[in-house]
Amino acid sequence: MLDQRLLPHQVVYHTYTNHAEVAAAIRDMVIRGAPAIGVAAAMGIALGVERSHAKTLEELEREFESICEGMGRTRPTAVDLFWAIARFRRRFTELAGQSQRQGHPGSLDTIRRGMVDEALQVHEERRAADKAIGAFGAALLPRDGRVMTQCNAGALATAGIGTALGVIRTAFAQGSLLNVLVPETRPYLQGARLTAWELQQEGIPLTLITDNMVGHFLKTGEVGSVVVGADRIAANGDTANKIGTYPMAVLAREHGVPFYVAAPISTLDLSIPSGAQIPIEQRAQEEVTHLAGVRVAADVPAAHPAFDVTPAALIAAIITERGVARQPYESALRDLAGPKKSR
Ligand code: MRU
Repeated sequence: MLDQRLLPHQVVYHTYTNHAEVAAAIRDMVIRGAPAIGVAAAMGIALGVERSHAKTLEELEREFESICEGMGRTRPTAVDLFWAIARFRRRFTELAGQSQRQGHPGSLDTIRRGMVDEALQVHEERRAADKAIGAFGAALLPRDGRVMTQCNAGALATAGIGTALGVIRTAFAQGSLLNVLVPETRPYLQGARLTAWELQQEGIPLTLITDNMVGHFLKTGEVGSVVVGADRIAANGDTANKIGTYPMAVLAREHGVPFYVAAPISTLDLSIPSGAQIPIEQRAQEEVTHLAGVRVAADVPAAHPAFDVTPAALIAAIITERGVARQPYESALRDLAGPKKSR
């Protein structure tokens, strides 16, 4: 894993050899961004099963459950995490059934191999999803001018070219002359540290701004559209994304700028009717009071809700790998998700 806590100053990769290390890396934000969290969880579960010393199916089942529970306790908002865990539970049950039917001692290896194959497949599918999102989304962006994003919904946050940044990257590759307005995204600075770095590596022009400049630039900056990622999209289209996304959507509406959400089908949570049911991760106060380990605030209580919820009414379209959903979202999202959502 590329340690995103150290970017852009240091490029350091970690190799993890057990599932608990992977879970800790997700919790501590070595890796972050909803789809990347899903892929990491898939890899972590597969690693746990592959390295298990269980001798019987019952033992392996117990270990598998505890691995899944550990993964599920890392970050509460990004639904890709729970999507990956549910997918692995289904696959484990299928493989366990096969192994019982085969009924010979080597059959636990079938489960071990099957888990690893599933993780590799999740990774492959995420890459393909990003490409498709990029193609659908690029068609919605202006051919030149400015486009605003939030946080980091790029390659660092997925397994491919990114979701929101994948859209921008695809438009750029198709010849659009865009300049990306990147808010720094306090308090964790995913915009300043990660999106700015990623766009710079790609040679895509950008302008870094502070979060409190968002309204000014939406009013005066000739922003053609806003495109952001998502951590969880409820059945009615309400979308949780990095804190600061909601005010950006309100200001975009006020100034007539279309506001797009780009996310894979795995980020849909059709089991909840609206954003009111989305759990919002509360992170440490120190992430607000301190910058790079140095206290910048007075010694006072602080709050850090890591996400906010943008009401569906403010979203012009939700771009997925299976196509673009528009209002009314409930039916459009269910149509796109279809029976394949379970995969
Ligand atoms: O707390 P983070 O950095 O994991 O939050 C990330 C975001 O809010 C992203 O916009 C979202 O996960 C989509 S990433 C393609």
